[in-house]
Amino acid sequence: MCKHVLPALKHTQDKDEVVILDICFGLGFNTLATLHALKYSGKKVRIYSPELDEELVCSLVNFVYPEEFDSLKQVIIALSKEHVYVSKEMEITLILGDAREFIRNTDVKFDIVYQDAFSPKSNPLLWTSEYFKDISALMTPDAILTTYSISLATRIALHENGLHVYLHKGEGFRSATIASKLGCLAYEKVDVEHKMRCNPDVTALKDT
Ligand SMILES: C[S@@+](CC[C@H](N)C(=O)[O-])C[C@H]1O[C@@H](n2cnc3c(N)ncnc32)[C@H](O)[C@@H]1O
Repeated sequence: MCKHVLPALKHTQDKDEVVILDICFGLGFNTLATLHALKYSGKKVRIYSPELDEELVCSLVNFVYPEEFDSLKQVIIALSKEHVYVSKEMEITLILGDAREFIRNTDVKFDIVYQDAFSPKSNPLLWTSEYFKDISALMTPDAILTTYSISLATRIALHENGLHVYLHKGEGFRSATIASKLGCLAYEKVDVEHKMRCNPDVTALKDT
């Protein structure tokens, strides 16, 4: 919530509709927390979330979520069984398959990207420079990307693809990273070039 949903919704508070890429769905906490936070806001939301693990998605119908998601039970059931939920306020699409393939083939543009894949160490292909090139191309000019990763390699990959990098810190959560094509966000900017000069051995992950 603190690392992804709150800064992303604050950044897009003036928009009537937001389009979100949630990498990846997992148990769906980011998607559900977003819907919970937007309840009664009148804002429309479209969320696209790839997820490789079909068995996990099928099991979500029986997963015991925190009480605050009780009002989202119908959404959870629909996503688990049909992978889509549509209402007047929301359109949620769970894409069963590889996130890389989805981002290569979609022409949807996103206001918000939750970069919440497993760590760069365990899932490197969702953190490479080539991956962030594709992500950056799908971000609207004022989009925001949120991630828990504070690794310099990740920040270099973001920087290499035209994104400004910011430190996101606050009380009650570990520091995280925000990225945007906008260079004027109200967060402490990370001087990636300086960090690269100080750490010449660190480079962005690559596909190969
Ligand atoms: C850290 S979890 C995501 C947590 C999720 N954001 C949440 O709020 O519950 C990472 C998820 O990525 C999925 N995954 C791993 N590699 C993937 C890929 N290449 N494409 C799509 N999903 C992938 C895993 O199956 C796992 O469920």
